[in-house]
Amino acid sequence: MPSPRQRKSARKTPLAAIVLAAGKGTRMKSRRAKVLHQVCGRPMVYYPVKRALEAGAAPVVVVVGHQGEAVRTALEALLPGAPLRFARQERQLGTAHAVLCAKPALRGYRGPVLILSGDTPLLTVRTLRAVLAARPAPGSLAFATMVLENPEGYGRVVHSPEKGPALIVEERDATPEERKIQEVNAGLYAADAEFLWKTLSRVDAKNAQREFYLTDLVALAAEGPGAVAARVSPVEASGVNDQEELSLAARALTRRIAQSLMESGVTIEDPERFDADEGVEVGPDTVIEPSVRLRGATRIGPGCRIGQGSVIESSEIGPGVQIRPYSVIDRSRLAEGCLVGPFARLRPETVLAEGVHIGNFVEVKKSRLGPGTKANHLAYLGDATVGAGVNVGCGTITCNYDGERKNPTFIGDGVFVGSDSILVAPIRIGKGAYLAAGSTLTESVPAGSLALGRARQVTKRGWVRKRNAARAAARK
Ligand code: UD1
Ligand code: CA
Repeated sequence: MPSPRQRKSARKTPLAAIVLAAGKGTRMKSRRAKVLHQVCGRPMVYYPVKRALEAGAAPVVVVVGHQGEAVRTALEALLPGAPLRFARQERQLGTAHAVLCAKPALRGYRGPVLILSGDTPLLTVRTLRAVLAARPAPGSLAFATMVLENPEGYGRVVHSPEKGPALIVEERDATPEERKIQEVNAGLYAADAEFLWKTLSRVDAKNAQREFYLTDLVALAAEGPGAVAARVSPVEASGVNDQEELSLAARALTRRIAQSLMESGVTIEDPERFDADEGVEVGPDTVIEPSVRLRGATRIGPGCRIGQGSVIESSEIGPGVQIRPYSVIDRSRLAEGCLVGPFARLRPETVLAEGVHIGNFVEVKKSRLGPGTKANHLAYLGDATVGAGVNVGCGTITCNYDGERKNPTFIGDGVFVGSDSILVAPIRIGKGAYLAAGSTLTESVPAGSLALGRARQVTKRGWVRKRNAARAAARK
């Protein structure tokens, strides 16, 4: 938490940011614009935008082009009320041109401008601050560099012996000698607005790709006070250009989420076999077994156990809940002490009160189950309101769909639903009623009644012996 004083000084320093997100991302070989590809449940571009906001940038101008409307919609939904502005780059003429497209959105602004790439989801606020702090006297530029074992695909940083970084040369324009340079441009810049607009107007497209390269700013800055290279960690600044790099970024971000959960007291049995979306919450002393996936706005309380292979999507799990292996829980709410699975499926709008037991091969959809109610084996409950202490026998089915509409089932407190009951909805079972096993129930049952909805059993004594005698006679 920043102290009030720090907050005040942060407010005093102006900061703006530009996030470049107009490119198609040809190397992804996908119909979806690169920055919309998901990393831990959010589009890649969300991360640099969010980090710029966290660093105190206002506004953050997002330059959009390919699927620009979708990018805008996604960001506005994920960051409601944030000081975002959007600028369109109709044709992708290069990174320098993209930054120029943001100029009208920053009219009248003076001060430092952070420039980030929409394809760098691993950036941290600390990195942004380091680059900002490296900026020399106003009027120039700092940019992030990193040293890579394999610098392929990145712009190489060429230093002059006397004056620091002299220029950035893109892979396609580099000589074989320059390609050996392992210090590369990370694509993160901090420049003064005035320097930026003045210098950008001088960038041309005389290069292998006939694009306006933002990286030319470094050579142009060298004419003046010169640019400063700020070394950052490749773990934070690596870009995503293809599907493999997307998977690596997702893995790295997931590892970070796991790390922070473990720091807050969650046991993750194998962080390498754990998947979580950005923003999931888990309470301390919860144990997460291998191959669990937590998605969306999931919140799990303390002292739970989440069994191997379970997938939980945007659900609220109360304290002390046990989810046994291979359960799938989607947009549901589970109160304290519930026990679910193995192999259970909770579909959207399922609400379980305290201590509910849902066993193997039970599917629940859009239903509320009262405290202590149990459905332990092979059942389907849909559009049902079930009271407290109900026992739902093995094989019970609510027939909620009549081919046209979904109909509700009401089951009162303490009802005993015998195994293999078929409850044809709409239907209401009164408190404490007993439903005989194997019943097909089409009419409501008053409280305290026994209901039987099945054919009476017929037993024919000696039938087998008689049949065999008849067969033997026929054979003669
Ligand atoms: C860029 C840098 C390179 C650096 C690398 C770091 C240039 C010329 N090169 O290369 O030195 O090592 O990033 O990751 O800047 N974009 C637009 N409009 C455009 C072109 C690009 O908005 O006209 C956006 C893209 O959507 C992307 C970002 O800018 O989010 C970077 O573009 P990309 O094509 O990925 O650049 P690189 O080739 O990786
Ligand atoms: Ca890139």
